[in-house]
Amino acid sequence: MKPSTPNARRFPPISPKCPHMIHGGDYNPDQWLAYPDVIDEDLRMMRLARMNAASVGIFSWTSLEPEDGVFTFDWLDRIMDRLAENGQFIVLATPSGSKPAWMSEKHPEVCRMTAEGIREPHGRRHNHCRTSPIYRAYCTRINTELARRYGKHPALLVWHVSNEYNGGDCHCPLCHEAFRVWLRARYHDDLDALNHAWWTRFWSHTFTSWEQIRPLDSSIHGLMLDWQRFKSDQTLDFFRHECAPLREWTPDIPITTNFMGFHLTLDYWKFADAVDVVSWDSYPPYHDRPDDWLHAVDVSFAHNMNRAFKQKPFMLMECSPSVQNWKPVNKLKRPGLHFVEALQAVAHGADTVQYFQWRKSRGGFEKFHGAVVDHCGHEHTRVFREVSEVGAALARMDDVVGTTTPAETAILYDWENRWAIDEASGLSRDNRRYQETCTAHYRPFWSAGVACDAINEDCDLSRYKLVIAPMLYMVRPGLAERIEAFVRGGGVFVTTYLSGIADESDLCFLNGFPGPLRELLGVWAEETDTLYEGDDVRIAAVDDGSAGLRGEYKAETFCDLIHAEGAQALAVYANQFYRGRPAVTVNRRGKGRAYYIASRNEARFHADFYRHLIDELGLRRALGCELPDGVTAQIRTDGEREFIFLLGFNREPVEIDLGPAVYRDLVSDSEYGGRFQLPPYTALVLEPAEKTAAAEPARRR
Ligand code: GLA
Ligand code: ZN
Repeated sequence: MKPSTPNARRFPPISPKCPHMIHGGDYNPDQWLAYPDVIDEDLRMMRLARMNAASVGIFSWTSLEPEDGVFTFDWLDRIMDRLAENGQFIVLATPSGSKPAWMSEKHPEVCRMTAEGIREPHGRRHNHCRTSPIYRAYCTRINTELARRYGKHPALLVWHVSNEYNGGDCHCPLCHEAFRVWLRARYHDDLDALNHAWWTRFWSHTFTSWEQIRPLDSSIHGLMLDWQRFKSDQTLDFFRHECAPLREWTPDIPITTNFMGFHLTLDYWKFADAVDVVSWDSYPPYHDRPDDWLHAVDVSFAHNMNRAFKQKPFMLMECSPSVQNWKPVNKLKRPGLHFVEALQAVAHGADTVQYFQWRKSRGGFEKFHGAVVDHCGHEHTRVFREVSEVGAALARMDDVVGTTTPAETAILYDWENRWAIDEASGLSRDNRRYQETCTAHYRPFWSAGVACDAINEDCDLSRYKLVIAPMLYMVRPGLAERIEAFVRGGGVFVTTYLSGIADESDLCFLNGFPGPLRELLGVWAEETDTLYEGDDVRIAAVDDGSAGLRGEYKAETFCDLIHAEGAQALAVYANQFYRGRPAVTVNRRGKGRAYYIASRNEARFHADFYRHLIDELGLRRALGCELPDGVTAQIRTDGEREFIFLLGFNREPVEIDLGPAVYRDLVSDSEYGGRFQLPPYTALVLEPAEKTAAAEPARRR
């Protein structure tokens, strides 16, 4: 069967050097230079675990440059050669994630400064000033040395630039001045324009010179929003600066830097343009509640975004093969979970499964963080066995490399929108939950096995049939027009309460919410009620069954009081003084339609509402059958072959009924069809069996 959208294709592998799935992890041989046997053992065990990559040098600056300008590359020369001989490619890091002590001592400006003007002490990591020209110059020098020395190394696969950049605060004079320069560019040197954008006549906050501006007043929302933007942009500028020598000396080696999912401080959509391949680090808090699978939904949503950044395969740069060390409770991953988690990444478009970390450090902050090789130092452990199973499975997936996941649905998650929502005073302060809300809207698609991208406000909408924009508070210029064109052309658009409130400067739209979307949606949101936990608000379907809605649903936290201005009510409030007012509406426009969901509703509402849309729009489900709770199916395809990943995150076996179709699991070669029990934490990679059945008689399970 051919996929139903034309967007499927096969991309080349991340590097032509390795046309296989990459299985690797952070490797810190410089911690073990005094233990030569350890390195021999590492190499032996990497082969056993079918690891074909190692990420080296991530925090090695002092090992590489123990004194200013004195370089010690011999250990890295040796390890790169040995890894290459042993069958591992190298994901080589630039070391800026942690700076040497001699540097902080000699040039305190490389350390960040607090809002109180105190220089942070040397130590920890990920905390350098991103403006400091001295730090930038040191980075240029070491990166140039690395690129010149290893650029032609046959095993060099990818550059891993720095590590987990963050947009944390540095209030040093250099950063404040850079912020002002950034502001002058944004506001075209026009202080009046800035004052207007920040609405500074409020509380007499008007700035009468650029020099007065400091990012220290959280009561000026526009200022704080621009400070967030600046920190993200300045980090990106730092990243580009780090890349310059790599681009110059090794133009053919792809560059990445590891993202952190929905991490608050960096707008990864902008970073995505600057990397050659997207990578991210995934650390879900599994087992903190009975329904593990809800975490899997969050993770899938993040994978979807990492795939959508470039609409091509990405890298899972880090995950823990077992525990973490930085959560309040660090529970062991239950047997099988690691396997399904690894294949989940692949299902959503990862062409790599990599770990933090290969070998547990003997001391230091992460000595209790999960690793492929534990302190016992051998391979006879549960975790090592589970990692080896992943390695063996990935080794069978060459044909999956480079395939994509064509999605007909997109959910909008936008960083600037989130910053503006979080910054605003008022509404329901502790319960905004923008990211969680986006995931709640995604869940029915996950459960139905319908592919879904996570995109931002600037993305092309025309490739989708359905676009959902929960809490679209900020509507940047041009977006409303693009949504309008999308709907007129036949697209279906869904948005919710708290949408169309403010422009890109966080200035509220005048003339009625949802601002520039009011006409398209055919509603006017006159007021927003915010609720206490336990407040009883319900909405009721107008016409039982229409739009998939039946009976009553509980509403919580946010309830918009809207007037239909042409839109048709599908549900109304069932109680409170706004009883009878519309709660869910649809407005037809051109060939498409636009829905407004006025309240934050319980999960059952999303399930009913979106299931109906999925059927009505004929959105492709990965498998034709119903899936039990906790199970999803995701497709990767090149337009010809389809790989259907069936992923089960339940603690107990569940029954699946695949109907008459017969599939073969690429990992085990077993055939599946009809009814069967899916064991706890299981992943299958299914292909319709007709294609392969001729080769071998069917062994139905
Ligand atoms: C992050 C870092 C790693 C390591 C892990 C631990 O992802 O990039 O260096 O600290 O967390 O979970
Ligand atoms: Zn600074």
